[in-house]
Amino acid sequence: MLDYDTEAAVYDATRGGIERARAAATAFHTLLPTTGTIADLGGGTGIVSAELATPHRHVCVVDASAGMLALADRRLPGNALRADATALPFGDRSLTAAICSWLLHLIPSALADAVASEAARVLAPGGIFATTTDKNAGHDVGSDIDVIVNRLHATVALPPDTGDDPQRLTEVLAPLGVHPHATATFTGTGQGRTPAGFTAHLESGRHFQWTPGLTQDAVDEAATAMRLLPDQHRARPEPVFTVTAWRRDP
Ligand SMILES: C[S@@+](CC[C@H](N)C(=O)[O-])C[C@H]1O[C@@H](n2cnc3c(N)ncnc32)[C@H](O)[C@@H]1O
Repeated sequence: MLDYDTEAAVYDATRGGIERARAAATAFHTLLPTTGTIADLGGGTGIVSAELATPHRHVCVVDASAGMLALADRRLPGNALRADATALPFGDRSLTAAICSWLLHLIPSALADAVASEAARVLAPGGIFATTTDKNAGHDVGSDIDVIVNRLHATVALPPDTGDDPQRLTEVLAPLGVHPHATATFTGTGQGRTPAGFTAHLESGRHFQWTPGLTQDAVDEAATAMRLLPDQHRARPEPVFTVTAWRRDP
């Protein structure tokens, strides 16, 4: 996990800015109640949360990073809470909804399950838990870059432990009375991959974080193949991401 206290200064500008936040918020919006109180877990700088807040819908940003929350507090004054998403400072069945935008893919499945369970605890009857899911699948647009990335991932015996797998989350939530409700999608505007950009990503070593078990040889081979692709700086199609929602039984 990145040090988000340090990352805060550049987070919004390097993650697609307000355009990305509005696209994500539009997808969340279609799944959420229009009134009540929503907690945005791992809400960071509040750039998505602020797009969801209305005079009738109160949004509270919950995050572990003081640096990220300082920016959230500017967007939603008095509504930025420092807390771990697995131990929320809300009572049982007290919220209309809880959301996670780009949190669960960052953390191991056991921790993601704990976040989902905690979200279920605070949902009022009929309340919604919505989160971005299956980020890796969203990035696979069937491009020549993806052929190389998929070949690289196939070198690993076990699939990565992804916190944002919606099927596993459904299994965690069902015994808690929270069941699949609906899904929505949004386009990762400006996030189409380029061969040059992905080579730099591979060479940064960060891909090992996403896909444990990779060998340096396999990554080097993928970087070499990436450099041979045409149009090194032409972005391939933009990713399409999914938001999945579950609803607490009335
Ligand atoms: C990739 S950022 C997403 C921020 C925001 N949701 C967005 O879409 O712009 C992930 C955020 O999750 C926060 N985070 C990570 N683990 C957390 C935890 N266990 N509890 C609360 N926040 C956490 C980080 O501090 C960071 O701000």
